[in-house]
Amino acid sequence: MDYPVIHKPALEDMKVKPNIQDYHESQRDFSWDLLKKELDGLEGGGLNLAYEAIDRHVKKGKGDKVAFYWEGAKGEEEVYTFAQFKVQSDKFANVLQGLGVEKGDRVFIYMDRIPELYFAFFGILKAGAIAGPLFSAFGPDPVKDRLLDSGARVLVTSPNLRAKISGILGDLPDLKHVVVVNKNNRHPEGLQPGDVSYEEAMAGASEEFTIVRTTEEDYDIMHYTSGTTGKPKGAAHVHRAIYQQYATGKWVLDLHEDDIYWCTADPGWVTGTSYGMVAPWTNGITQVIYEGGFGAGPWYRVMEKYKVTVWYTAPTAIRMLMKAGEDVVKRHDLSSLRYMCSVGEPLNPEAVVWGVQAFGMPFHDNWWQTETGAILIANYPIQDVKPGSMGRPTPGITVGILDDNYEEVPTGDEGHLAVRPGWPSMFKTYWGNEEMYNSKFQNGWYITGDKARKDEEGYFWFVGRADDVINTAGHLVGPFEVESALLEHPAVAEAGVIGKPDPIAMEIVKAFVALKDGYEPSDKLRRELMRFARKKLSSFVAPREIDFIDSLPKTRSGKIMRRLLKARELGLPEGDTSTLED
Ligand code: PRX
Repeated sequence: MDYPVIHKPALEDMKVKPNIQDYHESQRDFSWDLLKKELDGLEGGGLNLAYEAIDRHVKKGKGDKVAFYWEGAKGEEEVYTFAQFKVQSDKFANVLQGLGVEKGDRVFIYMDRIPELYFAFFGILKAGAIAGPLFSAFGPDPVKDRLLDSGARVLVTSPNLRAKISGILGDLPDLKHVVVVNKNNRHPEGLQPGDVSYEEAMAGASEEFTIVRTTEEDYDIMHYTSGTTGKPKGAAHVHRAIYQQYATGKWVLDLHEDDIYWCTADPGWVTGTSYGMVAPWTNGITQVIYEGGFGAGPWYRVMEKYKVTVWYTAPTAIRMLMKAGEDVVKRHDLSSLRYMCSVGEPLNPEAVVWGVQAFGMPFHDNWWQTETGAILIANYPIQDVKPGSMGRPTPGITVGILDDNYEEVPTGDEGHLAVRPGWPSMFKTYWGNEEMYNSKFQNGWYITGDKARKDEEGYFWFVGRADDVINTAGHLVGPFEVESALLEHPAVAEAGVIGKPDPIAMEIVKAFVALKDGYEPSDKLRRELMRFARKKLSSFVAPREIDFIDSLPKTRSGKIMRRLLKARELGLPEGDTSTLED
């Protein structure tokens, strides 16, 4: 079914004049240099994200403005101004220096969404180190892979999460310190011998800190992302990314001085850093940070309580809210809300239209990736919304659709979604894997790994992934990681993992398992394998479905043909099977 275009509202009907309108009126030629002028840079030269996100506002007299309202999972409330935020991040930078952390060291954060996570994050940047946020739902395997690969020197965590990964800490030769935050003594089990107590270290730390001089090209943040093969790769970003995160915060999220902004993404994922920290705070915006999990009632309550004006969320959450129905929406006063955006997976047209029905405005879909660092394609507030489309390229960005030889295809044809390199938030490398990084650039384009098409009006439409990477509820999962975990179970001889379409999560992780001699398929074994994978990986990475089969289809060179497993699962034609093993 075709969904009619949702026409842009008249400017006079909008609560505020969109920033992108201002931009169009004031600038004829695009230049990143104009944007750079809106930020300060470090005194004496250089650029540091923590300075632009926090200290700059204090220096400009906005120290008393609220940087964030925090609501804990148990209803605890805390409020921090930019001035207080500066003090806490300065103190943590001192703590890190006291532990011997130097410019360029990797410091990872494995924590629930508590204020200390944010203090630590910006303290790391102030100390000139590289911050690596990890999703707190991860099990020991993904945490170990990331800490090992990055050579992390310090881990900041909490007692409950530390306990979850205690088995791997001895396997990390580069890890020198584990800093443990026991907020409000939440975890009576407390610290382990050798841990650094965050609370004690902060109590003794000075509030004065001179930010370590970093440049546009110095690394600041690492996020691991999954590919078809091998372990996750550390997409490493540099401080210059701020220019684009700042700009898209203004143009795409339409952040204004008085906004109360809520990004529902966890900081363990790139959306939670680029748009849950960098974009709003470089724009000096007040945020809401909610530690609790998903729930239609709780989410609307948060929006009502804090009078959220701009909301950035994800398709799976929107589809779950749709399922919960409009009655729940109507029970809350959401009159403050004026703008809604979505990212991370395809946003189905029904969901865009439901936004209008339930909230009086569409969800504005946008597209980007861990590697791109910031939004590159978007539906803007002053543009008609075509439900189902990701929108158009943001200013300064050139997007192409390419054939298999990396040449542009005619408008309307499907092909590889590609971007002309050189945008400020482009990742600088995959940590320790320059070859893989270089392979992403072909014929003068950055190849995203997505397939898409462009229509006559320049709107882009997502078609699918060009590889086997699974997108489950907005989280990318590499089949290889799941297969490797399953293979560690004594009963498993072979495993093949695919994404199975799902009406809510877009895809779920499904595994096909061949058992070793002496093991028989049973529901009990299936449950045991699921539990095994959940414990090692995490509940969202572990398979939700497992089928036992005698043997997996493989190429003659022994590679599992996931494409064939998927075609069989979906009852689709099997395509070219000429390389299939006899
Ligand atoms: O396949 C695309 C999908 O998510 C991938 C990027 O995931 P990640 O690196 O985890 O970055 C998350 C930050 C957005 C893309 O390659 N994706 C992202 N946004 C959309 C999308 N697919 C369809 N529509 C989108 N709007």
